[in-house]
Formats: sequence, C-alpha cells, structure tokens
Amino acid sequence: MRLYDDLAWLWPMWGSPEEYADYCDHVMRLIREYAQIPVRSLLNIGCGGGKNVFNLKRHYAVTGLELSPRMLELAQELNPECEFVQGDMRTFVLDRPFDAVLVDDAVSYMVTRPDLRSAFVAAWQHLNPGGIMIVGPDDTKETFVQNHTVVTPAAGKTRPANIEVTFVENSYDPDPGDDQYEATMVYLIREDGRLRVETDRHVLGLFTLDVWRETLTEVGFRIRQMPYVEKGRQYTTFACLRPACADGRAADNMNIKVTSFEESEADIRFVRDTVFGDEQNVPRELDWDGKDRDCVHVVAADNGGQPVGTGRMQPDGTIGRLSVLQQWRGRGVGMAMLGALIESASSRGLEEVHLHAQVHAIPFYERNGFQRDGPRFVEAGIEHVNMTRNTHPGVGQVSSEAEPCVSPDELPT
Ligand SMILES: C[S@@+](CC[C@H](N)C(=O)[O-])C[C@H]1O[C@@H](n2cnc3c(N)ncnc32)[C@H](O)[C@@H]1O
Repeated sequence: MRLYDDLAWLWPMWGSPEEYADYCDHVMRLIREYAQIPVRSLLNIGCGGGKNVFNLKRHYAVTGLELSPRMLELAQELNPECEFVQGDMRTFVLDRPFDAVLVDDAVSYMVTRPDLRSAFVAAWQHLNPGGIMIVGPDDTKETFVQNHTVVTPAAGKTRPANIEVTFVENSYDPDPGDDQYEATMVYLIREDGRLRVETDRHVLGLFTLDVWRETLTEVGFRIRQMPYVEKGRQYTTFACLRPACADGRAADNMNIKVTSFEESEADIRFVRDTVFGDEQNVPRELDWDGKDRDCVHVVAADNGGQPVGTGRMQPDGTIGRLSVLQQWRGRGVGMAMLGALIESASSRGLEEVHLHAQVHAIPFYERNGFQRDGPRFVEAGIEHVNMTRNTHPGVGQVSSEAEPCVSPDELPT
C-alpha cells in the first residue's frame, strides 16, 4: 500500500489531527462509561500517522503500535513525547498490559475472520482485567455502498504552499460472497502547478455486524454496541470489556441489587452468618450491631436468585460488611458490590466513602481509588487501616484484580 510507504508523505494532508478530535471524544466517553478500572494507559493499535494519538495523549499515557515504518516516523514527529512500536496487530507482543486499547481504523486491513480474531486476541492479551477495548468497522456488509467514490481536498494547514493534492477513493466489491472489498485511490498531486497522478490499491475486510459481534464475544469480551455519527454517516463502535474477574461469564450470571435491610434481611443474614459467623468465627453479637436498618445494602445473587454476597454503607458513607460466599470468590462479586455502593453514595450526594480495610486488602482498595487515612489499628484481633475515596472521579470504576476473598471491612470491636 503506497499510502503507507513511498506516498506516506501525503498522509498528513489527508485530514488534520484536529479533525479526529470528535471521534476521540466519543472514544473517551465510552472508556469513561464502561471501563471497570481507572484508565491511565492506552495502546493505540494501528495508529498510522498518530492523529488519534495527538488527541488522546492529553488524557492518557499513549503508546502507538503500527506496521509501517514510514507511518511510525510520521506518528513520532507529530507526538514526540509518546512511545511508538512497530508491530503487526495480529501477532505483536509487548512487555506490559494497558488499561485501554483503541484499535484504529487499521482494523479494516483484517481481511479474513481468522485475522480479525487474531487482532482481538492480541488486544485482549494486552489489556488489564477490567480494561476496555474500543474498535469499530469503517464499513460492514450492511452499510457498504457499491462503487462509492469520495473526493477529499488536502487539509490546508498541513499542505506545503507549492503543493495541491486531491484524494479520490473508490470502493468496489468484486465478489459480494467473500469477506473483502477493494479501495482504489487516485492521488492528484500538483507540485508548482505540474500534475502528477499516482494510484494505489487497498484490500479491506467486509464482514456482517453479526460476525463482528460473534468474534468479539468468542474472544471473551463483553460488548456494547454504540453508534457514532460523522459527517451525516452512522458508524458502529464496539466498547469491549475484558471482565475484571477471572471468569467473566460467572460474573455475567450475577445480579447486583442496592436494597434495604427490611427488603433483603434474609439474604443479608444468610451471607453474613455463613462468612463471618461460620467461616471466620466472629461472634454474632459483634456482626449484628443494630446499625443495619440505617444502612444502604447491596446484595449479589446468582441466576437462580440465591444470595452470594452482600455489603452495606452507613449514612455517613462508611462501607463495610463486604462479604462473598467462598465458592463465588475471585469472580468479581466484591468488585461489583463495591462499585454499586460507591455509585449509591454518589447519588445520595455523599462526597466521600470510608472503610476499615484489613491490611492485606489495602492494594485492592488503592487500585480502586481509595487512599489510606491514618495509622494501622487492631479491630476484632485483625490489623486494619482507615481508607477514604472521593465518590466523583471514576465512580464505579473498580478493579477486582486481587479481590479480597472475604470481608475486607471493619469488624466491630
Ligand atoms: C488509515 S491508517 C490509520 C491512521 C490513523 N487513524 C491516524 O490517526 O493517523 C491505517 C494504518 O493501518 C496500518 N496497518 C495495516 N495493517 C496493519 C497491521 N496488520 N498491523 C498494524 N498496523 C497495520 C497501516 O500501516 C496504516 O498506517
């Protein structure tokens, strides 16, 4: 493809970086809404000349991955402060995972289903649990228009004064029975008034939306499909969550309910008696402290409506009694309940939530936005520390990477 090789110098003229700002705002909205962890690092796969990176780098630590050395040079020039790596989106291996991945329109170069799948697997492998991948097709079988031609003049700001360029792009599908089409580019280049015509042919993937959904889901992503409208045309974007728990499907089978003690007393008693009473031998009178009727509660139940976890929040925002039945630990239940309680605090106008964390659970809470507040102390024979979190930034963005297995909360003295 000459556009990414000997004609790569034309790329900066095919739309300015600022023209990518709207799409990047859309990407950031989806990340904010669907990631289960705070997103600080982002990998832009197939970053081309780095125009998306240009808009995203103000919000995340962005790394770009790209196949073409010429395009990498352009991306680096536009974004000298960012890291860029050469690699094929189907096979690359980096030494670290990221909180979010944006697979650029470069995904259009996946022309077979196995290639599409390989690109999604590689992205999954570079995502932290709870992280989000944003990806979307330029065209699908449903939206493709046969023999469509678009003519675009060079973007003014990036064009040298003595050069005029017109980009002509024609899309044609010679065999609607397969999964690809061809884009023929004609570049009309006038240098000091002299015309030069260059041509270029790209083979691009063309799948149904069903194939996209099936492939993403098979890889393990939990997907949300969102429309994105640009210049009057509607595109589909997929927000693809790598579930925070080890077994995403198990978490899918779970229902989280914010509730009251009156409404859910039997379920709450069942879980807490099992975890604190039977398993941890905490005296019943310490657990049942008479404060439950004043609290907001959360109950996690399995598909059949059986309770598997619970937690509570006092009127002052103190979260506690977070407990999960043994066979449900490590599946994101505690994470989901914590997120629900933080959201509930926010909707009640509480600025902060607090908890007494058992010392082993401190890293879990720190990853979920809590900060230590004061020295260690002993409660019910166990070392604890006070932790606090603002309810505003990243509400509900919680990670269960090292989910505390039982009660990370306070036990009454
Ligand atoms: C249209 S450009 C992307 C431009 C990008 N949106 C930007 O902000 O500048 C498509 C890019 O996909 C890259 N590409 C194609 N196949 C690839 C692959 N298998 N792995 C990684 N990048 C690939 C091309 O080299 C090209 O730079």
